Amino acid sequence: MAKLWGARFAREMAPEAKEISYSLKTDQELFPYDIQGTTGHIKMLAKIGILKTKEAVLLTKALKRILESYKGDSLDRFSDKHEDVHSFIYAELEKRLGPLAKKVHSGRSRNDQVATATRLYLKDKSFELVKQITSFQKALISAASKNKNVAIPGYTHLQRAQAVLLAHHLLAYVEMLERDKARLLNARELTDEMPLGSGALSGSTLPLNRETTRKALGFKRLSRNSLDAVSSRDFVLEFLSCLSIMMIHLSRLSEDVILWNSSEFGFIELRDDYATGSSLMPHKKNPDFFELARGKSGAVVGNLVSVLMMMKGLPLAYNRDMQEDKSPLFQSFKIAGTTLEVLEGAVNTLKVNELACQKAVGDSYLYATDLLDYLVSKKTSFKDAHDQVGSAIAYAASKNKDLRKLSLKEYKRFAPRAAHDIYRLFSSKTSIAKKKTIGSTSPGSVKTQIAFWKKRLK
Ligand code: ARG
Repeated sequence: MAKLWGARFAREMAPEAKEISYSLKTDQELFPYDIQGTTGHIKMLAKIGILKTKEAVLLTKALKRILESYKGDSLDRFSDKHEDVHSFIYAELEKRLGPLAKKVHSGRSRNDQVATATRLYLKDKSFELVKQITSFQKALISAASKNKNVAIPGYTHLQRAQAVLLAHHLLAYVEMLERDKARLLNARELTDEMPLGSGALSGSTLPLNRETTRKALGFKRLSRNSLDAVSSRDFVLEFLSCLSIMMIHLSRLSEDVILWNSSEFGFIELRDDYATGSSLMPHKKNPDFFELARGKSGAVVGNLVSVLMMMKGLPLAYNRDMQEDKSPLFQSFKIAGTTLEVLEGAVNTLKVNELACQKAVGDSYLYATDLLDYLVSKKTSFKDAHDQVGSAIAYAASKNKDLRKLSLKEYKRFAPRAAHDIYRLFSSKTSIAKKKTIGSTSPGSVKTQIAFWKKRLK
Protein backbone atom coordinates (compact mmCIF):
# COMPACT_ATOMS: atom_id res chain seq x y z
CA MET A 1 0.00 0.00 0.00
CA ALA A 2 1.28 3.47 -0.92
CA LYS A 3 2.32 5.28 2.23
CA LEU A 4 3.53 8.76 3.03
CA TRP A 5 6.42 7.44 5.10
CA GLY A 6 8.02 4.11 5.98
CA ALA A 7 11.41 3.74 4.28
CA ARG A 8 13.28 4.05 7.54
CA PHE A 9 11.12 1.46 9.26
CA ALA A 10 11.95 -2.25 9.26
CA ARG A 11 8.64 -3.40 10.75
CA GLU A 12 4.99 -2.76 10.09
CA MET A 13 3.08 -0.85 12.74
CA ALA A 14 1.81 -3.02 15.60
CA PRO A 15 -1.91 -3.78 15.27
CA GLU A 16 -2.85 -2.14 18.53
CA ALA A 17 -0.79 0.93 17.57
CA LYS A 18 -2.83 1.11 14.39
CA GLU A 19 -5.97 0.89 16.46
CA ILE A 20 -5.06 3.94 18.50
CA SER A 21 -3.67 6.03 15.65
CA TYR A 22 -5.54 5.33 12.42
CA SER A 23 -8.09 8.08 11.97
CA LEU A 24 -9.74 7.68 8.56
CA LYS A 25 -13.08 6.77 10.13
CA THR A 26 -13.12 10.19 11.71
CA ASP A 27 -11.16 12.48 9.43
CA GLN A 28 -12.86 11.39 6.21
CA GLU A 29 -14.99 14.41 6.99
CA LEU A 30 -12.03 16.41 5.64
CA PHE A 31 -12.02 14.47 2.35
CA PRO A 32 -13.22 17.26 0.00
CA TYR A 33 -11.24 19.90 1.88
CA ASP A 34 -8.00 17.95 1.76
CA ILE A 35 -8.47 17.46 -1.97
CA GLN A 36 -9.08 21.18 -2.31
CA GLY A 37 -5.89 21.92 -0.32
CA THR A 38 -3.83 19.54 -2.44
CA THR A 39 -5.25 21.04 -5.64
CA GLY A 40 -4.05 24.49 -4.53
CA HIS A 41 -0.63 23.08 -3.64
CA ILE A 42 -0.34 21.49 -7.10
CA LYS A 43 -1.20 24.74 -8.82
CA MET A 44 1.58 26.45 -6.92
CA LEU A 45 4.10 23.63 -7.57
CA ALA A 46 3.41 24.06 -11.30
CA LYS A 47 3.97 27.77 -11.06
CA ILE A 48 7.40 27.35 -9.46
CA GLY A 49 8.40 24.57 -11.85
CA ILE A 50 8.45 21.60 -9.47
CA LEU A 51 5.61 20.18 -11.56
CA LYS A 52 5.29 20.53 -15.32
CA THR A 53 2.02 22.08 -16.43
CA LYS A 54 1.01 18.77 -17.97
CA GLU A 55 1.74 16.92 -14.73
CA ALA A 56 -0.25 19.42 -12.73
CA VAL A 57 -3.20 18.95 -15.07
CA LEU A 58 -3.02 15.17 -14.71
CA LEU A 59 -2.80 15.37 -10.93
CA THR A 60 -5.62 17.87 -10.67
CA LYS A 61 -7.85 15.78 -12.90
CA ALA A 62 -7.08 12.66 -10.90
CA LEU A 63 -7.95 14.47 -7.66
CA LYS A 64 -11.23 15.55 -9.20
CA ARG A 65 -12.01 11.98 -10.15
CA ILE A 66 -11.09 10.76 -6.67
CA LEU A 67 -13.47 13.32 -5.22
CA GLU A 68 -16.22 12.21 -7.59
CA SER A 69 -15.72 8.50 -6.95
CA TYR A 70 -16.05 8.79 -3.18
CA LYS A 71 -18.15 11.92 -2.60
CA GLY A 72 -20.92 11.22 -0.14
CA ASP A 73 -19.58 7.70 0.28
CA SER A 74 -18.31 6.30 3.58
CA LEU A 75 -14.57 5.58 3.58
CA ASP A 76 -14.93 3.28 6.60
CA ARG A 77 -14.09 0.24 4.50
CA PHE A 78 -10.56 1.61 3.93
CA SER A 79 -10.01 2.52 7.55
CA ASP A 80 -7.59 -0.25 8.48
CA LYS A 81 -5.50 0.22 5.35
CA HIS A 82 -4.77 3.94 5.54
CA GLU A 83 -3.51 5.99 8.41
CA ASP A 84 -5.71 8.98 7.72
CA VAL A 85 -7.60 10.82 5.01
CA HIS A 86 -4.38 12.44 3.74
CA SER A 87 -2.67 9.07 3.29
CA PHE A 88 -5.81 7.69 1.67
CA ILE A 89 -5.94 10.43 -0.95
CA TYR A 90 -2.22 10.07 -1.64
CA ALA A 91 -2.60 6.31 -2.09
CA GLU A 92 -5.48 6.86 -4.49
CA LEU A 93 -3.35 9.26 -6.52
CA GLU A 94 -0.52 6.76 -6.68
CA LYS A 95 -2.92 4.00 -7.67
CA ARG A 96 -4.16 6.12 -10.55
CA LEU A 97 -1.02 7.94 -11.67
CA GLY A 98 1.90 5.86 -10.44
CA PRO A 99 5.22 7.67 -9.90
CA LEU A 100 3.80 11.09 -10.78
CA ALA A 101 1.90 11.07 -7.48
CA LYS A 102 5.22 11.06 -5.65
CA LYS A 103 5.78 14.71 -6.54
CA VAL A 104 2.58 16.01 -5.06
CA HIS A 105 3.74 16.22 -1.47
CA SER A 106 6.77 18.42 -2.33
CA GLY A 107 7.58 20.76 0.51
CA ARG A 108 4.48 19.76 2.38
CA SER A 109 3.97 18.01 5.69
CA ARG A 110 0.78 16.54 7.01
CA ASN A 111 1.16 19.10 9.75
CA ASP A 112 0.51 22.09 7.51
CA GLN A 113 -1.77 19.96 5.37
CA VAL A 114 -4.16 18.98 8.15
CA ALA A 115 -4.24 22.49 9.59
CA THR A 116 -5.15 23.81 6.14
CA ALA A 117 -7.86 21.22 5.50
CA THR A 118 -9.39 21.81 8.93
CA ARG A 119 -9.51 25.56 8.32
CA LEU A 120 -11.13 25.02 4.90
CA TYR A 121 -13.67 22.71 6.52
CA LEU A 122 -14.49 25.30 9.18
CA LYS A 123 -14.79 28.17 6.73
CA ASP A 124 -17.36 26.11 4.86
CA LYS A 125 -19.27 24.57 7.76
CA SER A 126 -19.52 27.81 9.70
CA PHE A 127 -21.19 29.49 6.72
CA GLU A 128 -23.64 26.61 6.42
CA LEU A 129 -24.45 26.80 10.11
CA VAL A 130 -24.97 30.56 9.98
CA LYS A 131 -27.50 30.01 7.19
CA GLN A 132 -29.24 27.37 9.28
CA ILE A 133 -29.38 29.69 12.28
CA THR A 134 -30.97 32.37 10.09
CA SER A 135 -33.56 29.89 8.95
CA PHE A 136 -34.35 28.97 12.55
CA GLN A 137 -34.58 32.65 13.47
CA LYS A 138 -37.14 33.04 10.69
CA ALA A 139 -39.22 30.23 12.19
CA LEU A 140 -39.20 32.01 15.56
CA ILE A 141 -40.10 35.33 13.95
CA SER A 142 -42.92 33.73 12.05
CA ALA A 143 -44.28 32.15 15.27
CA ALA A 144 -43.99 35.57 16.90
CA SER A 145 -45.88 37.25 14.03
CA LYS A 146 -48.61 34.64 14.00
CA ASN A 147 -49.21 35.11 17.73
CA LYS A 148 -48.66 38.84 18.01
CA ASN A 149 -51.46 39.43 20.49
CA VAL A 150 -50.96 36.47 22.80
CA ALA A 151 -49.80 37.39 26.31
CA ILE A 152 -48.22 34.98 28.77
CA PRO A 153 -46.78 35.40 32.22
CA GLY A 154 -43.10 36.33 32.12
CA TYR A 155 -41.08 34.60 34.83
CA THR A 156 -38.14 35.32 37.08
CA HIS A 157 -36.96 32.52 39.35
CA LEU A 158 -39.63 30.54 37.49
CA GLN A 159 -42.19 32.51 39.50
CA ARG A 160 -44.87 34.45 37.67
CA ALA A 161 -43.53 37.98 37.41
CA GLN A 162 -45.21 40.25 34.84
CA ALA A 163 -47.26 39.73 31.71
CA VAL A 164 -45.31 39.78 28.44
CA LEU A 165 -46.15 39.09 24.84
CA LEU A 166 -45.30 35.56 23.77
CA ALA A 167 -43.78 37.14 20.66
CA HIS A 168 -41.42 39.16 22.85
CA HIS A 169 -40.28 35.98 24.57
CA LEU A 170 -39.61 34.26 21.23
CA LEU A 171 -37.78 37.30 19.90
CA ALA A 172 -35.39 37.17 22.86
CA TYR A 173 -34.05 33.94 21.35
CA VAL A 174 -33.73 35.59 17.94
CA GLU A 175 -31.37 38.09 19.60
CA MET A 176 -29.26 35.33 21.17
CA LEU A 177 -29.05 33.50 17.86
CA GLU A 178 -27.97 36.68 16.09
CA ARG A 179 -25.06 36.97 18.50
CA ASP A 180 -24.29 33.28 17.94
CA LYS A 181 -23.99 34.05 14.24
CA ALA A 182 -21.75 37.05 14.88
CA ARG A 183 -19.51 34.87 17.06
CA LEU A 184 -19.28 32.21 14.33
CA LEU A 185 -18.48 34.78 11.66
CA ASN A 186 -15.87 36.35 13.86
CA ALA A 187 -14.25 32.97 14.47
CA ARG A 188 -14.42 32.37 10.73
CA GLU A 189 -12.60 35.63 10.08
CA LEU A 190 -9.79 34.66 12.48
CA THR A 191 -9.60 31.21 10.89
CA ASP A 192 -9.23 32.64 7.40
CA GLU A 193 -5.46 32.27 7.38
CA MET A 194 -3.46 29.73 5.37
CA PRO A 195 -0.90 27.48 7.11
CA LEU A 196 0.18 25.65 3.93
CA GLY A 197 3.82 26.25 3.10
CA SER A 198 4.84 26.07 6.75
CA GLY A 199 6.10 22.52 6.23
CA ALA A 200 6.42 20.34 9.29
CA LEU A 201 7.26 23.31 11.50
CA SER A 202 9.95 25.60 10.11
CA GLY A 203 9.00 26.46 6.54
CA SER A 204 10.65 25.06 3.43
CA THR A 205 13.91 25.36 1.54
CA LEU A 206 11.95 24.81 -1.67
CA PRO A 207 10.85 28.10 -3.23
CA LEU A 208 7.17 27.52 -2.44
CA ASN A 209 5.11 30.51 -3.49
CA ARG A 210 2.60 30.67 -0.66
CA GLU A 211 0.83 33.68 -2.12
CA THR A 212 -0.14 31.60 -5.17
CA THR A 213 -1.50 28.80 -2.98
CA ARG A 214 -3.36 31.30 -0.81
CA LYS A 215 -5.13 32.79 -3.81
CA ALA A 216 -5.96 29.35 -5.19
CA LEU A 217 -7.54 28.30 -1.90
CA GLY A 218 -9.33 31.56 -1.24
CA PHE A 219 -7.73 32.33 2.12
CA LYS A 220 -7.64 35.97 3.20
CA ARG A 221 -4.20 35.91 4.79
CA LEU A 222 -1.01 33.88 5.10
CA SER A 223 0.13 32.69 8.48
CA ARG A 224 3.13 34.75 9.61
CA ASN A 225 4.86 32.13 11.74
CA SER A 226 5.31 28.52 10.66
CA LEU A 227 5.50 27.12 14.20
CA ASP A 228 2.25 28.81 15.13
CA ALA A 229 0.64 27.78 11.85
CA VAL A 230 1.14 24.03 12.35
CA SER A 231 0.54 23.86 16.07
CA SER A 232 -2.29 26.25 16.87
CA ARG A 233 -5.77 24.94 17.40
CA ASP A 234 -7.31 27.98 19.00
CA PHE A 235 -9.41 28.30 15.85
CA VAL A 236 -10.88 24.87 16.65
CA LEU A 237 -11.43 25.88 20.26
CA GLU A 238 -13.15 29.06 19.22
CA PHE A 239 -15.63 27.27 17.01
CA LEU A 240 -16.28 24.72 19.73
CA SER A 241 -16.90 27.58 22.09
CA CYS A 242 -19.27 29.30 19.63
CA LEU A 243 -21.18 26.06 19.22
CA SER A 244 -21.29 25.52 22.98
CA ILE A 245 -22.79 28.93 23.59
CA MET A 246 -25.32 28.41 20.81
CA MET A 247 -26.30 25.00 22.20
CA ILE A 248 -26.71 26.53 25.65
CA HIS A 249 -29.13 29.00 24.08
CA LEU A 250 -30.99 26.17 22.38
CA SER A 251 -31.12 24.26 25.67
CA ARG A 252 -32.78 27.23 27.35
CA LEU A 253 -35.28 27.58 24.53
CA SER A 254 -35.93 23.85 24.82
CA GLU A 255 -36.56 24.13 28.53
CA ASP A 256 -39.07 26.93 27.94
CA VAL A 257 -40.87 24.84 25.34
CA ILE A 258 -40.82 21.78 27.61
CA LEU A 259 -42.41 23.82 30.39
CA TRP A 260 -44.94 25.46 28.08
CA ASN A 261 -45.88 22.06 26.69
CA SER A 262 -46.55 20.58 30.16
CA SER A 263 -50.08 20.27 31.55
CA GLU A 264 -49.07 22.69 34.29
CA PHE A 265 -48.51 25.47 31.74
CA GLY A 266 -50.35 24.21 28.68
CA PHE A 267 -49.38 27.28 26.62
CA ILE A 268 -48.46 25.31 23.50
CA GLU A 269 -49.03 21.98 21.85
CA LEU A 270 -46.44 20.24 19.68
CA ARG A 271 -47.60 18.70 16.44
CA ASP A 272 -47.67 14.89 16.59
CA ASP A 273 -44.64 14.47 14.33
CA TYR A 274 -42.55 16.52 16.73
CA ALA A 275 -43.51 14.62 19.88
CA THR A 276 -43.34 11.04 21.12
CA GLY A 277 -45.54 8.70 23.11
CA SER A 278 -44.90 6.50 26.12
CA SER A 279 -44.60 2.71 25.91
CA LEU A 280 -46.57 2.41 29.10
CA MET A 281 -48.76 5.46 29.55
CA PRO A 282 -51.07 5.84 26.57
CA HIS A 283 -52.01 9.44 27.33
CA LYS A 284 -48.48 10.83 27.15
CA LYS A 285 -47.25 13.19 24.45
CA ASN A 286 -43.67 13.95 25.25
CA PRO A 287 -41.42 16.78 24.02
CA ASP A 288 -38.50 14.37 23.48
CA PHE A 289 -36.81 16.37 20.75
CA PHE A 290 -36.51 19.44 22.92
CA GLU A 291 -35.22 17.23 25.74
CA LEU A 292 -32.65 15.78 23.36
CA ALA A 293 -31.61 19.25 22.24
CA ARG A 294 -31.19 20.16 25.91
CA GLY A 295 -29.28 16.93 26.55
CA LYS A 296 -27.03 17.16 23.52
CA SER A 297 -25.82 20.58 24.59
CA GLY A 298 -23.88 18.64 27.23
CA ALA A 299 -21.91 16.75 24.59
CA VAL A 300 -21.07 19.96 22.74
CA VAL A 301 -19.77 21.67 25.86
CA GLY A 302 -17.94 18.44 26.73
CA ASN A 303 -16.26 18.52 23.31
CA LEU A 304 -14.98 22.03 23.99
CA VAL A 305 -13.58 20.95 27.34
CA SER A 306 -12.06 17.84 25.78
CA VAL A 307 -10.07 19.84 23.18
CA LEU A 308 -9.10 22.46 25.77
CA MET A 309 -7.64 19.70 27.95
CA MET A 310 -5.98 18.04 24.97
CA MET A 311 -4.16 21.27 24.06
CA LYS A 312 -3.18 22.21 27.60
CA GLY A 313 0.57 22.24 28.06
CA LEU A 314 1.45 20.89 24.59
CA PRO A 315 4.94 22.02 23.63
CA LEU A 316 5.42 23.59 20.20
CA ALA A 317 5.04 22.57 17.51
CA TYR A 318 2.85 19.73 16.18
CA ASN A 319 2.07 16.82 18.51
CA ARG A 320 -0.01 13.83 17.59
CA ASP A 321 -2.35 14.62 20.47
CA MET A 322 -3.79 17.24 18.16
CA GLN A 323 -5.34 14.59 15.94
CA GLU A 324 -7.86 14.21 18.75
CA ASP A 325 -9.44 17.56 17.91
CA LYS A 326 -11.31 16.14 14.91
CA SER A 327 -13.90 13.90 16.45
CA PRO A 328 -15.16 16.51 18.94
CA LEU A 329 -15.14 19.20 16.28
CA PHE A 330 -17.07 17.22 13.68
CA GLN A 331 -19.47 15.85 16.27
CA SER A 332 -20.25 19.31 17.59
CA PHE A 333 -20.99 20.66 14.11
CA LYS A 334 -23.22 17.68 13.43
CA ILE A 335 -25.14 18.05 16.68
CA ALA A 336 -25.56 21.79 16.16
CA GLY A 337 -26.89 21.30 12.63
CA THR A 338 -29.30 18.50 13.49
CA THR A 339 -30.57 20.28 16.57
CA LEU A 340 -31.30 23.47 14.67
CA GLU A 341 -33.09 21.52 11.99
CA VAL A 342 -35.40 19.63 14.32
CA LEU A 343 -36.15 22.66 16.49
CA GLU A 344 -37.02 24.64 13.38
CA GLY A 345 -39.53 22.00 12.32
CA ALA A 346 -41.02 21.83 15.79
CA VAL A 347 -41.34 25.60 16.16
CA ASN A 348 -42.87 25.91 12.69
CA THR A 349 -45.61 23.44 13.60
CA LEU A 350 -46.38 24.09 17.25
CA LYS A 351 -49.79 25.45 18.17
CA VAL A 352 -50.33 28.15 20.75
CA ASN A 353 -53.15 27.46 23.16
CA GLU A 354 -54.53 30.98 23.49
CA LEU A 355 -57.12 30.05 26.09
CA ALA A 356 -54.54 28.62 28.49
CA CYS A 357 -52.35 31.69 27.99
CA GLN A 358 -55.30 33.97 28.67
CA LYS A 359 -56.13 32.08 31.83
CA ALA A 360 -52.54 32.31 33.05
CA VAL A 361 -52.31 36.05 32.53
CA GLY A 362 -55.60 36.39 34.44
CA ASP A 363 -53.51 35.97 37.61
CA SER A 364 -53.95 39.37 39.26
CA TYR A 365 -50.62 39.16 41.09
CA LEU A 366 -48.86 39.67 37.72
CA TYR A 367 -50.03 43.30 37.93
CA ALA A 368 -48.66 44.17 41.37
CA THR A 369 -45.87 46.16 39.70
CA ASP A 370 -48.45 48.09 37.68
CA LEU A 371 -50.19 48.98 40.93
CA LEU A 372 -46.87 50.14 42.34
CA ASP A 373 -46.16 52.31 39.25
CA TYR A 374 -49.70 53.69 39.53
CA LEU A 375 -49.08 54.84 43.11
CA VAL A 376 -45.77 56.39 42.04
CA SER A 377 -47.63 58.30 39.32
CA LYS A 378 -49.91 59.53 42.14
CA LYS A 379 -46.81 61.01 43.83
CA THR A 380 -46.21 58.25 46.37
CA SER A 381 -42.48 57.57 46.73
CA PHE A 382 -41.32 54.34 45.10
CA LYS A 383 -40.34 52.77 48.42
CA ASP A 384 -43.59 53.71 50.14
CA ALA A 385 -45.60 52.46 47.18
CA HIS A 386 -43.64 49.18 47.26
CA ASP A 387 -44.44 48.74 50.95
CA GLN A 388 -48.12 49.63 50.44
CA VAL A 389 -48.61 47.17 47.59
CA GLY A 390 -46.61 44.54 49.49
CA SER A 391 -48.91 44.87 52.49
CA ALA A 392 -52.05 44.79 50.34
CA ILE A 393 -50.80 41.62 48.69
CA ALA A 394 -49.94 39.95 51.99
CA TYR A 395 -53.49 40.76 53.10
CA ALA A 396 -55.06 39.44 49.88
CA ALA A 397 -52.91 36.29 49.96
CA SER A 398 -53.87 35.58 53.57
CA LYS A 399 -57.49 35.69 52.50
CA ASN A 400 -56.70 33.74 49.34
CA LYS A 401 -58.17 36.59 47.32
CA ASP A 402 -57.71 37.80 43.79
CA LEU A 403 -56.36 41.39 43.83
CA ARG A 404 -59.43 42.42 41.84
CA LYS A 405 -61.62 41.29 44.72
CA LEU A 406 -60.24 43.66 47.35
CA SER A 407 -62.55 46.62 47.81
CA LEU A 408 -61.30 50.17 47.33
CA LYS A 409 -61.82 50.65 51.07
CA GLU A 410 -59.48 47.73 51.74
CA TYR A 411 -56.91 49.13 49.31
CA LYS A 412 -57.06 52.56 50.87
CA ARG A 413 -56.13 51.07 54.23
CA PHE A 414 -52.74 50.23 52.75
CA ALA A 415 -52.48 52.74 49.89
CA PRO A 416 -54.24 56.04 50.66
CA ARG A 417 -53.78 57.32 47.10
CA ALA A 418 -55.54 54.36 45.47
CA ALA A 419 -58.70 55.28 43.51
CA HIS A 420 -61.35 53.54 41.39
CA ASP A 421 -59.17 53.38 38.33
CA ILE A 422 -56.81 50.82 39.93
CA TYR A 423 -59.15 48.02 38.84
CA ARG A 424 -58.28 48.75 35.22
CA LEU A 425 -54.70 47.75 35.97
CA PHE A 426 -55.37 44.04 36.35
CA SER A 427 -55.26 43.22 32.68
CA SER A 428 -52.46 41.90 30.51
CA LYS A 429 -53.57 44.09 27.65
CA THR A 430 -53.39 47.28 29.72
CA SER A 431 -50.19 46.29 31.46
CA ILE A 432 -48.36 45.41 28.26
CA ALA A 433 -49.68 48.41 26.34
CA LYS A 434 -48.45 50.74 29.08
CA LYS A 435 -44.83 49.67 28.79
CA LYS A 436 -42.99 52.73 27.47
CA THR A 437 -39.30 51.90 27.25
CA ILE A 438 -37.38 51.05 24.11
CA GLY A 439 -37.03 47.27 23.87
CA SER A 440 -39.99 46.60 26.16
CA THR A 441 -42.75 44.08 25.58
CA SER A 442 -45.23 46.74 24.43
CA PRO A 443 -47.07 45.90 21.18
CA GLY A 444 -45.34 48.83 19.48
CA SER A 445 -41.91 47.62 20.54
CA VAL A 446 -42.65 44.06 19.47
CA LYS A 447 -43.92 45.32 16.12
CA THR A 448 -40.72 47.29 15.67
CA GLN A 449 -38.64 44.22 16.54
CA ILE A 450 -40.50 42.02 14.06
CA ALA A 451 -40.12 44.63 11.33
CA PHE A 452 -36.41 44.97 12.15
CA TRP A 453 -35.80 41.23 11.88
CA LYS A 454 -37.88 40.78 8.75
CA LYS A 455 -35.80 43.43 7.03
CA ARG A 456 -32.50 42.27 8.45
CA LEU A 457 -32.91 38.58 7.65
CA LYS A 458 -34.47 39.04 4.24
N1 ARG B 1 -3.89 12.68 11.01
C1 ARG B 1 -2.94 13.62 11.55
C2 ARG B 1 -3.67 14.69 12.36
O1 ARG B 1 -4.85 14.84 12.21
C3 ARG B 1 -2.12 14.21 10.48
C4 ARG B 1 -0.81 14.68 10.92
C5 ARG B 1 0.16 13.60 11.18
N2 ARG B 1 1.45 14.18 11.33
C6 ARG B 1 2.48 13.52 11.91
N3 ARG B 1 3.57 14.18 12.02
N4 ARG B 1 2.37 12.31 12.35
O2 ARG B 1 -3.10 15.39 13.17
